[in-house]
Amino acid sequence: MINVGVIGFGYWGPNLVRNFSASGRTNMVAVCDLDPKRLAVAARSYPAIRTTTDVKELLAAGDIDAVAISTPVQHHFELAMAALKAGKHVLVEKPMASTAEECRLLIEEAARRKLTLMVDHTFIYTPAVQKMRDLVQSGELGEVYYYDSVRVNLGLFQHDVNVLWDLAVHDLSIIEYVLGQVPVAVSATGISHVPGAPENIAYMTLFFDSSTIAHVNVNWLAPVKVRQTLVSGSKKMVVFNELEPSEKIKVYDKGIVLNDDQEQINKLIAGYRTGDMWAPQLAGTEALAAEVSHFADCIENGTTPLTDGVMGFNVVKVLEAASRSLAERGASMPVER
Ligand SMILES: NC(=O)c1ccc[n+]([C@@H]2O[C@H](COP(=O)([O-])OP(=O)(O)OC[C@H]3O[C@@H](n4cnc5c(N)ncnc54)[C@H](O)[C@@H]3O)[C@@H](O)[C@H]2O)c1
Repeated sequence: MINVGVIGFGYWGPNLVRNFSASGRTNMVAVCDLDPKRLAVAARSYPAIRTTTDVKELLAAGDIDAVAISTPVQHHFELAMAALKAGKHVLVEKPMASTAEECRLLIEEAARRKLTLMVDHTFIYTPAVQKMRDLVQSGELGEVYYYDSVRVNLGLFQHDVNVLWDLAVHDLSIIEYVLGQVPVAVSATGISHVPGAPENIAYMTLFFDSSTIAHVNVNWLAPVKVRQTLVSGSKKMVVFNELEPSEKIKVYDKGIVLNDDQEQINKLIAGYRTGDMWAPQLAGTEALAAEVSHFADCIENGTTPLTDGVMGFNVVKVLEAASRSLAERGASMPVER
């Protein structure tokens, strides 16, 4: 059993606490939040768990092996570093930190102390995203032409990060995991409709070393909730609708067939191939349950998490380049590594 402490019991923290409590692999020991009202809620729901407003007290506890951090992004680095220095394994919320340099320092500290450092890129643990990865990596989709995602709703306006850092962060982790590619350049546009607040709507285009292109549309000011991703390949295409109760993934045997005849190619004449659509059966497992179990595996066996510090770093690198591009009204920015 891995004994766990959770720091931050706001909106997302309770999901972590619920899953750490329910998992047969981990044992919830303590919750820390600066807000006593949130601690009162935690104490009512989990009377056996210790609560504290003092992070130092939680990190000093000898009966805690691992810490999960679900505070606003600006605190991730300071808290994750303190937890590693206290000898705790760390699961930190997405995005991993406010800068790629902070991510790098956390990766180094965890490596030096031989501690597990994992980032909660939750989507990677969903059966739907794992299926998409299988379809791409097995070659069933063929060469990937594009990834196109819409992630909009009347969402919670965040004060400390813009909509790219809040929502597009999901797509960046999915793209790395499913396509097995990391962007080399990014162009982002967006705007804030609340004076002084971060951008609440943004469009981001990602370029790769291959001919794959990705586009991500994120928005906290949409009248309807849409969570739809298209991945199109030379052989097949996938539609992932996260809001579908079943059949979240649909695979379409559709595409174009380019003519071998040079004259026809010159005239850009393509044939259309329209075959069957099928919806693969997906497990009903909650992503966080699988993730908590994976975290315990990695700690016990010293293995590298699927969503390790390097993925967290890669995602933040793109977000930094996207922020530079936003400031330049969409100018293409390289993602240096
Ligand atoms: N993985 C996901 O799908 C997902 C979904 C939502 C949010 N998140 C992430 O979870 C994190 C928290 O988001 P949220 O929406 O729950 O925020 P929130 O503001 O609702 O909750 C944050 C909590 O942390 C507490 N807190 C702040 N600073 C603290 C500190 N130094 N020590 C202890 N407690 C502190 C606050 O009092 C608050 O209760 C963010 O990084 C966000 O990106 C992830």
